[in-house]
Amino acid sequence: MQDLQPISINPAVTAVNKRLARSFDRLVRGYDRARGTLHLGGRKATYDDHKYEFHGGAGERLRRRHYDKSLRLLWKAEHNAPWSSFQDCSKQERAFIESAKQKAPWSTSNERSKQEQALHDLASESLGTQERAEVQRIRSKEYADFLDATYTPEQKQALVNILSMIGHGEAYAWLISTELLNQVKSTGGRSAMTMQVLEEAKHFVVLRELIMAFDCDVPPMCGWEYLLMERAYKAQGLEKFFGMNVLVESFALSLFGALSHLPGLEILRLFHLDESRHMALPKSYFQDFPMSWWQTHNPANQLRRLSLVIPALPILTWIEADLAVLGIDVFEFGGSMTRKTLTMAEQAGFRMGLPAKTLQTVFDSAFNLYCDWTRPDHINQDFMRSETTQDSAARAVEQAVLEAIA
Ligand SMILES: [Fe+2]
Ligand SMILES: [Fe+2]
Repeated sequence: MQDLQPISINPAVTAVNKRLARSFDRLVRGYDRARGTLHLGGRKATYDDHKYEFHGGAGERLRRRHYDKSLRLLWKAEHNAPWSSFQDCSKQERAFIESAKQKAPWSTSNERSKQEQALHDLASESLGTQERAEVQRIRSKEYADFLDATYTPEQKQALVNILSMIGHGEAYAWLISTELLNQVKSTGGRSAMTMQVLEEAKHFVVLRELIMAFDCDVPPMCGWEYLLMERAYKAQGLEKFFGMNVLVESFALSLFGALSHLPGLEILRLFHLDESRHMALPKSYFQDFPMSWWQTHNPANQLRRLSLVIPALPILTWIEADLAVLGIDVFEFGGSMTRKTLTMAEQAGFRMGLPAKTLQTVFDSAFNLYCDWTRPDHINQDFMRSETTQDSAARAVEQAVLEAIA
């Protein structure tokens, strides 16, 4: 069994938080249902988080015939158009091309075409090889047995509760990136967004299979997450970049970073890598197409951004008990995540009324205040300096994306 040192929490506070979240959930969903019935808007996402499916169901046949096959046959421009400026081959693919050139410069055209076929096979194999191998492993009975042998039922349920929260987020990431695709300028911008749409699709379907392998109840979103996701989805134009690529992505990035070192969850490192790219996208995009002065400074925009961060905080109270089972202090996680979110928001140019450093102090005080109320022996601590991304490679990825994280 995995030796995770659980953190003791205040059960009375957890019960109050759960009751509060359930009432809030009924309120926001009821409000949206009423608006939907009256044709006044309501829920925007065509997604059913109670079933953990998009409307219309799983559609496995379509997925296998089109999505899986397209990924299998995805070709690389660097190999097929070596004269071009593309650099889309992996290190292994590039090494294979070089060795094929050096080993048989005298080969006949027939032999050469065989080599090229082999290379093509390798290219299509190596694209997502790790992901596909992982998916097969996840499906297998051995993987389910491995999870049973590694984690207690309580740890398994805690992991599913946390992972499914990201899973629902992946559904929204897929919906939101699809809308952003038609809002970004330039061929490069559209190419970048197209890859994010593709990767979010991959994240949703792969994470769904991973979660199913745990054979635990998959909870729907809590009201706080529902509100955050719907508001990020309904945000106007490129403001979606803030809700999605900065706020939600950094939440997902931090959770992947906190869990990817656990046995059987190594695939989360690949998710972490993709999310770090998505998180950096607004910053790169605004270097080419800066926001206008008014877009950046408009007080209504700044207030809206700040108000989007607010529901992210009660989410921490929702996941406190599950993270405690896994030995993670929710406010150390929250501090680590908040620091990264605010740093990235500032770097991308999304102002929120106050500088990132000041907001960090405000959030840190709020975290400590909550701990003073709910933890009998709490001693004030600087949660913003905590780092819950365990794996050193994952930390290096985050450092590269965020430049200097203080
Ligand atoms: Fe994702
Ligand atoms: Fe993403």
